[in-house]
Amino acid sequence: MENLSVDRSVGIDGIAFELPKYYVDMTDLARARKVDPAKYCNGLGQLEMSVASPCEDTVTLAAGAGRRVINSFGINPDSIGLVIVGTETSVDHSKPVSSFVHQMLGLSKECRVIEIKHACYGALAGVSIATDWILSGRNQSKCALVIASDIARYELHSAGEPTQGAGAVALIISENPRLLSFETQFQGFYAKQVMDFWRPLYRKEALVDGHFSINCYLDALAGAYSMYQRSFRKNNIIQADKEELISSQFSACLYHVPFVKMAWKGHKKLLEQDWNLVIEKDTNEMEQATLDFQSRVSPYLKLNARVGNIYTGSLFLSLCEFISNVDHSMIDKKISLFGYGSGCAAEFFSARIVSSDQGKIKKEEIMNKRQKISIDHYEEILFASQLGDANDSTVCDPLKWNLDGPFLYLGTKNHIRTYESFLE
Ligand code: HMG
Repeated sequence: MENLSVDRSVGIDGIAFELPKYYVDMTDLARARKVDPAKYCNGLGQLEMSVASPCEDTVTLAAGAGRRVINSFGINPDSIGLVIVGTETSVDHSKPVSSFVHQMLGLSKECRVIEIKHACYGALAGVSIATDWILSGRNQSKCALVIASDIARYELHSAGEPTQGAGAVALIISENPRLLSFETQFQGFYAKQVMDFWRPLYRKEALVDGHFSINCYLDALAGAYSMYQRSFRKNNIIQADKEELISSQFSACLYHVPFVKMAWKGHKKLLEQDWNLVIEKDTNEMEQATLDFQSRVSPYLKLNARVGNIYTGSLFLSLCEFISNVDHSMIDKKISLFGYGSGCAAEFFSARIVSSDQGKIKKEEIMNKRQKISIDHYEEILFASQLGDANDSTVCDPLKWNLDGPFLYLGTKNHIRTYESFLE
């Protein structure tokens, strides 16, 4: 069969992220929970956590990220032929988040508009589908807008509480991309039915078997990477015994980041698989793995450490940090990306760097706009958010939460969600 992938270059042409206005400091949260702050800050690697107020939901965050990517990367809205929102915190059992976003961004009616759910994997599944749509040639020169948007909530005082977060990342997937070109000839997938993390229809907060979920993530990484290794060997005519370790070709390794320490656990697993050994404490291998993590993974976890888990967007938030740091010497180098969704599904793939973002992601500007809140204020927001989806609820008042847009949720009236755009 003809391999279309080698003929066409498909990848990421633009990327942008959006965050809620408020965040808490993890030291404050630890003290309020009578936990040693070192557990949250070093044990999990989290420094701050974004908090969405009742007027900020999955739709407003997605629209905010979509607007940023269109404006920053000069995308003609009429050139978007496919909109996919990946989310596991949708706002309706039937109506997709993407249809609200499609209207808020003023996109063409000649467009496919869908929402995808598979825990944190949903948006990456959207990126894969958009890539295949372009490779098939059915895109008719149009590009896809894929948005990852979520508000991660666990119960107050639970072990999962310090691994919450909220935010969205929007990506433009196109032919001849300006930022990253996917190596579509190499791919690794993994799926297995496990109850590691889920959210029954009657709950706002997720349920999780925390330590089991870590093992499920690592098994999925090992499985997806094994398949990637096989596809790499098949497509590169290199004898296995002469081949370089496959992961050593990556200038950076990006992971799904539910909390920063998880990326370390994942990278260690990847190296163990490549090196064909178990990395024990106090060994040369551990020293080498630590140095390798510090150079190829940890520089790209800064946003994740300050935002928390944003579920579908967490891999792409790390990618935002990476792309903001690309310099000329890295052009044409390869990176790896690993996405995991509980339940579970995973994908391991690689891409080549085309160029840097040239300041378009505006990382500092977005981070500096946020406001720190106290733990009392955070708890008030979480209690109010429980009521935000109720019909005719009064908690979604932008003045009460001191918000001014660009997109806000004003509550559900006559059973219809209402939104306002505050654009100049
Ligand atoms: P826990 O059980 O309270 O924490 O919750 P712990 O006792 O395992 O401690 C965590 C780490 O802190 C450990 O490090 C401790 O040693 C260390 P490790 O042994 O793992 O290297 N520690 C300290 N370090 C310094 N000073 C101290 C101290 N005390 C302890 N004083 C857990 C941790 C992650 C289980 C919990 O937060 C949780 O359940 N989180 C949610 C689940 C999760 O994030 N799972 C990740 C994999 S599944 C996934 O990624 C999918 C997901 O994104 C959802 C989706 O797909 O939709 C979650």
